Amino acid sequence: MAGTRGYVNRRLHSLLGVIPIGIFLIQHLTVNYFATRGPEAFNAAAHFMESLPYRYVLEIFIIFLPLLFHSIYGVYIAFTAKNNLSNFSYFRNWMFMFQRITGIVTLIFIAWHVWETRIAVGFFGEELNYQLMEGILTNPFFFWFYLIGVVSTTFHFSNGLWSFFVSWGITVSPRSQKIMTYASIIIFVAISYVGVRTLITFAY
Ligand code: HEM
Repeated sequence: MAGTRGYVNRRLHSLLGVIPIGIFLIQHLTVNYFATRGPEAFNAAAHFMESLPYRYVLEIFIIFLPLLFHSIYGVYIAFTAKNNLSNFSYFRNWMFMFQRITGIVTLIFIAWHVWETRIAVGFFGEELNYQLMEGILTNPFFFWFYLIGVVSTTFHFSNGLWSFFVSWGITVSPRSQKIMTYASIIIFVAISYVGVRTLITFAY
């Protein structure tokens, strides 16, 4: 019984990392990238997202609850899973360890980021706009905090995609897993560029 529950939890944890959390991550980075076209473009994109119908339902079911489950179960895995040192290559063992470390770093970052840009903004009736993000990111401490947080998240997602494909039996042969390693590196570089360029735009 406990074994079945563990299996279902693991599957759910794996699935939620890509659908919907991973998809949301890509969408979120893309909307924020409008900042590179200037404050008006960013504000229009942010306000459009805020004006979506049944916004709270979307936020709760597409972002908050999946992220809560993935995070709680992720912390459990990160602190209990044994590193499978002998079965995989040296490189894969490092990636396995980084997946856990970036999970924890991402959790700290997201907790702060959601508080600062969603909850506190809502409480104090502030407007989430270009100026607010500029105010945060022109502070060098927060610029580096966001930079580390964003790159940790993009790494966690890209490397997670690799293990997702293995978990779901999509990449079985060594060759397909190797191709997926290259694909995940390309995805990591591309989405990190989108995220970091947005941060630099706000800060400078
Ligand atoms: C934007 C946020 C996040 C995204 C997009 C994301 C995505 C993913 C993906 C795609 C996987 C691979 C699933 C698989 O191996 O089948 C994964 C695994 C994992 N995630 Fe996350 N995740 C996020 C946040 C977090 C947080 C906050 C934690 C908290 C510690 C976490 C902990 C983990 C752990 C430990 C694994 C490894 C699971 C395993 O190897 O069995 N993740 N994540």
